[in-house]
Amino acid sequence: MLEIKTIRELRSALKEERARGKKIGFVPTMGYMHEGHLALMREANRLADVVVVSIFVNPTQFGPNEDLGKYPRDIEGDRDKAAGVGVDFLFVPAVKEMYSEGYSTYVEVTGEMTHVLCGRSRPGHFKGVTTVVAKLLNIVEPDIALFGNKDWQQLAVIKRMVRDLNMDVEIIGVPTVRENGGLAMSSRNTYLSLEERKAALVLSKALRLAQDMVRTGKTNAGEIAAELKETIENEGLIEVEYLEVCDPESLSPVETIEANTLIAVAARVGKARLIDNALIVPES
Ligand code: PAF
Repeated sequence: MLEIKTIRELRSALKEERARGKKIGFVPTMGYMHEGHLALMREANRLADVVVVSIFVNPTQFGPNEDLGKYPRDIEGDRDKAAGVGVDFLFVPAVKEMYSEGYSTYVEVTGEMTHVLCGRSRPGHFKGVTTVVAKLLNIVEPDIALFGNKDWQQLAVIKRMVRDLNMDVEIIGVPTVRENGGLAMSSRNTYLSLEERKAALVLSKALRLAQDMVRTGKTNAGEIAAELKETIENEGLIEVEYLEVCDPESLSPVETIEANTLIAVAARVGKARLIDNALIVPES
């Protein structure tokens, strides 16, 4: 695995790979890798000839009161993990490499889909995500780029950006990897105490409950959401920020579950803000 810090060097290495006819798979990350990241890299390895992974804690996607300064980092551990799953190029740019002096260009998906769910409590977050992802896609020029389904809204917003800007890349969503008990893997799980970690299991339990409710014929989104919220809040230690039933592509609210529907939840558990979701596919 080759570790590269500059855009110029990465571009020149990938130009050679492309000239050899290699298919390039790209996994952007903010590091502090866990099994969820490794699943993305393994899938990239299965689908492409050359795998590029970036580690960049992107300042533009953090709000002023968020955890940018405290975001967990472990570059040495990440290096070993990435090499262990067959990554070819690890791109680790400094902030000034990505955002040079006088930087003033942003990419923004406007409208409802970036203002609902996480967009409501994290204004400007998706503008930071789409800006850095557009830049990274522009630098790497991959054939495919892989993102976790855990950040479903991020995935939906990136798909929209790629479609709207006619970017020549296929965006692939990879299933959420869960710890024993169902907690969705996240770098931010490191903020949880043992007790909070146990309490956080109720999020995936509630999403499984939603699946059972739909299976047994319940279709009223409002009723399902209310029951899930109650289940979660009965656990104590957890404060639901949102629990929404929506269209998986547009993220618009859904009233009756008739077609594929996303149930998305965000909750505060101690110092951590956790998100999770389930795609409900009603039996026909
Ligand atoms: O999901 C993440 O880790 C980040 O939002 C991403 C896509 C790497 C952009 O900074």
